[in-house]
Amino acid sequence: MDKLIINGGKPLLGTVGISGAKNSAVALIPAALLADGPVVIENLPRIQDVAIYYELLKELGADVLFEDDWMEIDGRPMKPIVMPNGRVKKLRASYYLWGALLAKFGEAHVGLPGGCDLGPRPTDLHMKGFEALGATVENKNGVMSIRARNGRLKGARIYLDLVSVGATINIMLAASKAEGVTIIENAAREPEIVDVATLLNNMGADIKGAGTDMIRISGVDRLHGCRHTIIPDRIEAGTYMIAAAATNGNVLVENVIPKHLEAVSAKLREIGAEVRELDDAIQVIGRGRYRASDVKTSPYPGFPTDLQQPITTLLALAQGCSIVTDNIYSSRFRHVEELRRMGASIKVEGRSAVIEGGRKLNGGKVVASDLRAGAALFIAGLATEGTTELEGLEHIDRGYENFVGKLQKLGADIQRISLPQSEHHQR
Ligand code: EPZ
Repeated sequence: MDKLIINGGKPLLGTVGISGAKNSAVALIPAALLADGPVVIENLPRIQDVAIYYELLKELGADVLFEDDWMEIDGRPMKPIVMPNGRVKKLRASYYLWGALLAKFGEAHVGLPGGCDLGPRPTDLHMKGFEALGATVENKNGVMSIRARNGRLKGARIYLDLVSVGATINIMLAASKAEGVTIIENAAREPEIVDVATLLNNMGADIKGAGTDMIRISGVDRLHGCRHTIIPDRIEAGTYMIAAAATNGNVLVENVIPKHLEAVSAKLREIGAEVRELDDAIQVIGRGRYRASDVKTSPYPGFPTDLQQPITTLLALAQGCSIVTDNIYSSRFRHVEELRRMGASIKVEGRSAVIEGGRKLNGGKVVASDLRAGAALFIAGLATEGTTELEGLEHIDRGYENFVGKLQKLGADIQRISLPQSEHHQR
């Protein structure tokens, strides 16, 4: 196990380059299995979730070449096998194998996913979509066995009761080779969904409306190989924007699509940071004194739930009382306990964190419980005079490529050290 030693209180200064989007990558990789030839994916983030997917694809019998930020995937040698829990549990997004294998073989047998502990992570909307497309769904001791009646799915009109990124993408994957037309109503509009639709269309699919709340998929018989470059990770970018503000720094966040970050830029301006949008970069300049602000997360283009935890850290430093409400996940507040150990005054009431800002934080020993809680905590350490020790780095490694290196390049005094197993803190 490793831990971070952060000597905080210094402004982040300079330029940070943003990697490919994690939440695109984990869907694009299974989507590539649908082609009857090699698909090359470029600009992959160098993160644990991609490495796990590489192992999963090899287990499935695909031909995969993987080096650095580049992967060539050829699903032709694959056979429809059962993917028991095992490795799939390490990855929330392993559920995209359901839609991909269902479209490829007319059947999928994959264990229920694992992933971050944000409270219940149901997949009922995914199953509703598959059943609407004419599949039977059976949970066999945690392995979901999904079969298309008569071996091929049939297009259908599907209304999603909740806006769901995963269900929208999974249904798009399954419907891409179904017979006839599928309409997804109340679809999620995240940029990562557009990224997956772009890849599928370049493979020969016929998908219209991705990025809106109604997506029309006309099934095709075959999909072919192609090359695809992943969009930048708007959540990684937002994390560095918030870190720049929290440390009163001046950071140019490069290789972003500013439109994907409009809600985050607006919120940072409201709190009092200066935010300048360039063509493919955003500059954030801290202003030292920040105003309290209420944040309510909502599906894209609203304020993203994945940045709810990091913005909470910034608001703990702002003057006045802020309320952060997560309308997507009901219990995404495990960072609060750790921030309180650093002197923050926050209490969780239902789906909201009530933050009494304006208090100086102190360094301390804290543990990340999930990916974005880890981000909230390393931002707190960077913004705080004194030394903070952060464990639970395996969560952060899942979604932030080389975050220690990127922060060091911005002038952060941050070291990653290995711990003998005995010293690992259990909470
Ligand atoms: C994706 O998760 C992201 N993960 C999450 O990012 C992100 O927080 C989330 O979308 C919301 O934007 C990936 O893309 C791999 P949802 P997903 O289906 O697809 C409920 C990160 O930090 N729901 O949009 O699982 C669900 O409980 C991760 O990078 C159902 O009730 O999220 C939640 O309350 C964390 N039934 C809401 O919908 C379902 O069948 C939105 O979930 C599916 C979801």
